[in-house]
Amino acid sequence: MIAFFQPKLLAGRRVLITAGPTFEPIDPVRGITNHSSGKMGFALARAAQEAGAQVTLVAGPVHMPTPRGVARLDVQTARQMHAAVLPLAPQHDVFIATAAVADWRPDTTADQKIKKQGDSRVPTLALTENPDILAAVAALPQRPYCVGFAAESEQLLQHASEKRLRKNIPLIVGNLGPATFGRDDNALLLVDEQGHHDIPHADKLTLARALVREIAGRIGQPHT
Ligand code: CTP
Ligand code: CA
Repeated sequence: MIAFFQPKLLAGRRVLITAGPTFEPIDPVRGITNHSSGKMGFALARAAQEAGAQVTLVAGPVHMPTPRGVARLDVQTARQMHAAVLPLAPQHDVFIATAAVADWRPDTTADQKIKKQGDSRVPTLALTENPDILAAVAALPQRPYCVGFAAESEQLLQHASEKRLRKNIPLIVGNLGPATFGRDDNALLLVDEQGHHDIPHADKLTLARALVREIAGRIGQPHT
């Protein structure tokens, strides 16, 4: 019912969102991942849909129901997420990167389960850097309005500001962890060209709705 009374700030807009962790396989039974819950991305998908947007959600491995009216694509690895997002990005007005993309993947994935050697030797894991999905979208000639997330453990404003410039994006949303990671509530720091301000501590759906209002205010009305 509440959604019914929300102003349709994103009517006619297409919003693409990444959410959750990625999973980088080592062998058929093991892999590298992280504790991202995907909650913020799913809350944003719901809030953007409520605001009238057509929403595409590209999700890493998370166990969460798809918000009503949202088109969802499931992926495992960073490269799969990159391959799913890049062709979709030019068809969207806004890209919100909430995914905690694994920064590195194993150089090679073993076809069969790696077995213990028996003489206490341990395998060595060589890693390769994954593509930066947000930076790649921001570098597209036909780029959507790009919003990044920065989860930091210290010096939030400084790290978030540097990341915004490094990735060449107009808006970055910072949050301090790890205490808040995976929880239902959080506080956000918005950093753009003009400066920075907080969205005070609230549950993730309230934060998502506030962030949708901030984004809608920045992109203005669609051209009809
Ligand atoms: N991101 C991405 N692809 C990656 C890494 C990050 O799209 N391979 C996006 C995240 O979804 C987030 C933003 O970039 O919106 C910042 O992610 P973060 O991990 O904080 O930044 P990194 O550039 O990876 O730097 P670091 O992890 O060293 O702090
Ligand atoms: Ca990272």
